Amino acid sequence: MTTATANTTRAPLARIAKLDALCRVLLVVSFVALAVTGIGGYYALGAVDGYGLLVHMAAGGVFTVCLPVVVLTASSSALTRPNGALRTLVYWLTVLAALVALGTITLSMTKLFDTAGLHDLLTLHRWAGLALVALSILQLFLRVACRR
Ligand code: HEM
Repeated sequence: MTTATANTTRAPLARIAKLDALCRVLLVVSFVALAVTGIGGYYALGAVDGYGLLVHMAAGGVFTVCLPVVVLTASSSALTRPNGALRTLVYWLTVLAALVALGTITLSMTKLFDTAGLHDLLTLHRWAGLALVALSILQLFLRVACRR
């Protein structure tokens, strides 16, 4: 391979790596904003509304865009790295909880559900959000523990 060909092959890869890094940062920032406004709003203030809901929804949009990028790039290494069964299981449960959290909100925007159904979707969203936060903390813990 000539130097020129190698450079043209490497340039898009470098761009993808930068996009991946940006998405990872945005995913973490939006996740923290979602957890604070969602859990904090609901359990400390009694409801997710007003500016809290505004921030929650904006962060939800960023989270929804960045999640597939990070899952696509992280999953190959999550599958091939000698992670141990527990870390791999926790990783995929986290992805599942994230999909349920954003899936329930997406479904609630359709006309498929009546008032009772919307209520159930919101309850499921809350539990999926709580599970997502708990599993993310567990993932962080396992990552630190497995380094030793
Ligand atoms: C860390 C993840 C998340 C947590 C902990 C979380 C938590 C919550 C909680 C506790 C509520 C209030 C539920 C209720 O009133 O019963 C809520 C509402 C809401 N969440 Fe999330 N959420 C998360 C992710 C997301 C994502 C990814 C989106 C968007 C794609 C989203 C959009 C919304 C919306 C629009 C509402 C208001 C629904 C309504 O009042 O009708 N959330 N969230």
